[in-house]
Amino acid sequence: MKLLGKPRNRTAAILPLCLLFLKILQPGHSHLYNNRYAGDQVIRLIPKTEEEAYALKKIYHQFRVDLWQPSSISYISEGTVTDVHIPQNASQALLAFLQQANIQYKVLIEDLQKALERSGSLQTHRNRRSVPGHNYEVYHSLEEIQNWMRHLNKTHSGLIQMFSIGKSYEGRSLYVLKLGRRSRAYKRAVWMDCGIHAREWISPAFCQWFIKEALLTHRSDPAMRKMLNHLYFYVMPVFNVDGYHFSWTNDRFWRKTRSRNSRFRCRGVDANRNWRVKWCDEGASMHPCEDTYCGPFPESEPEVKAVANFLRKHKKHIRAYLSFHAYAQMLLYPYSYKYATIPNFSCVESAAYKAVNALRSVNGVRYRYGPASSTLYVSSGNSMDWAYKNGIPYAFAFELRDTGHFGFLLPEVLIKPTCTETMLAVKNITMHLLKKCP
Ligand SMILES: *[C@@H]1O[C@H](CO)[C@@H](O)[C@H](O)[C@H]1NC(C)=O
Ligand SMILES: *[C@@H]1O[C@H](CO)[C@@H](O)[C@H](O)[C@H]1NC(C)=O
Ligand SMILES: *[C@@H]1O[C@H](CO)[C@@H](O)[C@H](O)[C@H]1NC(C)=O
Ligand SMILES: *[C@@H]1O[C@H](CO)[C@@H](O)[C@H](O)[C@H]1NC(C)=O
Ligand SMILES: [Zn+2]
Repeated sequence: MKLLGKPRNRTAAILPLCLLFLKILQPGHSHLYNNRYAGDQVIRLIPKTEEEAYALKKIYHQFRVDLWQPSSISYISEGTVTDVHIPQNASQALLAFLQQANIQYKVLIEDLQKALERSGSLQTHRNRRSVPGHNYEVYHSLEEIQNWMRHLNKTHSGLIQMFSIGKSYEGRSLYVLKLGRRSRAYKRAVWMDCGIHAREWISPAFCQWFIKEALLTHRSDPAMRKMLNHLYFYVMPVFNVDGYHFSWTNDRFWRKTRSRNSRFRCRGVDANRNWRVKWCDEGASMHPCEDTYCGPFPESEPEVKAVANFLRKHKKHIRAYLSFHAYAQMLLYPYSYKYATIPNFSCVESAAYKAVNALRSVNGVRYRYGPASSTLYVSSGNSMDWAYKNGIPYAFAFELRDTGHFGFLLPEVLIKPTCTETMLAVKNITMHLLKKCP
């Protein structure tokens, strides 16, 4: 029979499979990401003077460090908290340089590889591909998240619809879940996206948590019932699908998309600097190798274009735009690109004030809140400003936990407390929408 093929061919076909199984069955002590972060450190420094800030910028160019906070060297200035990830092979020279320049620093993470392996049980493959019993307290790969979405689309078709709004640069579908009771033809809507930046894993975890809570509580909790009756939620659990995938397979600290550049070897665009609102101005970089690269033109990234198209098409209904990032513990609203207060400032401000209070009431965690420009830093071409400029009156960006102790490696045990408190803030904002703002 042709289908079975010759025995030799069959062995050849089975061998890679066996290797694959061996790989999966490897014991827990095998190293993640080929041990590439062994001996890397994350340090925090706060330049005390302009000269020190200048010295830090020079170091950045010289040593190829990965900036965790703020997201671009252009933000480094006197008095700004700066967290940098230093590769092991640059560590000695760099720390010597800092000592010489008399710049004080504190080690936040002594060994990044160890911290990474402690932060979750990523290597053990325990109960994570667990649709139908999806485990919301572990981080999930893109494939797992998409399987979970497909499962909900089947099992909760009364409340959830899954659809694609386009394809990523590498050809992956950009899925959105539409959540809400189909009670009326016309309903106002809330847009939520997670995972614009690949390495901020707590963000997609929150989008999944939000859906879970809605499905679990809409019968028992009058507030949730009201929200699902009166609104649709468009939830995009992973915006930057290519980048997120890459952060699982290759580089845990990848931030950007994965698009190629014709003139540079560096890949990717910052999907939160690629929007047509003061595009590529202050707080964005024109250089393809920078983490805040704005791209060759606005909406050059298919992921950004797809979401922008969707929002343009539905902006009459969409009352709120919520975007989830990490880390800083902040609730931000427009503007990012300039120091100015938005029209109807008081409505948005009071929504933010109440939301951070609601958030704090859960675990006592404090969030700062305010216009992004003065609370975080000035940045141009981001999604929140774009949503606001395009007529969505409530536009917010969350910077979830923490403030640098774990940074992007927020341990899985903190998914639950982080999501529980964020949930209350999101519900509070949503209930605010349903009332007429005074
Ligand atoms: C450190 O290692 C990286 C990757 O292996 C390499 O690209 C880089 O040039 C090295 N830097 C130094 C200062 O040796
Ligand atoms: C979701 O389910 C509906 C049927 O209920 C189906 O038509 C649709 O294709 C599904 N969406 C996806 C993305 O699979
Ligand atoms: C929102 O939070 C504020 C402050 O914690 C609280 O007073 C208010 O009742 C909350 N509103 C809703 C609808 O949850
Ligand atoms: C400000 O509020 C008024 C009254 O609710 C509304 O008509 C106007 O469109 C709002 N402006 C913006 C920019 O949201
Ligand atoms: Zn981010």
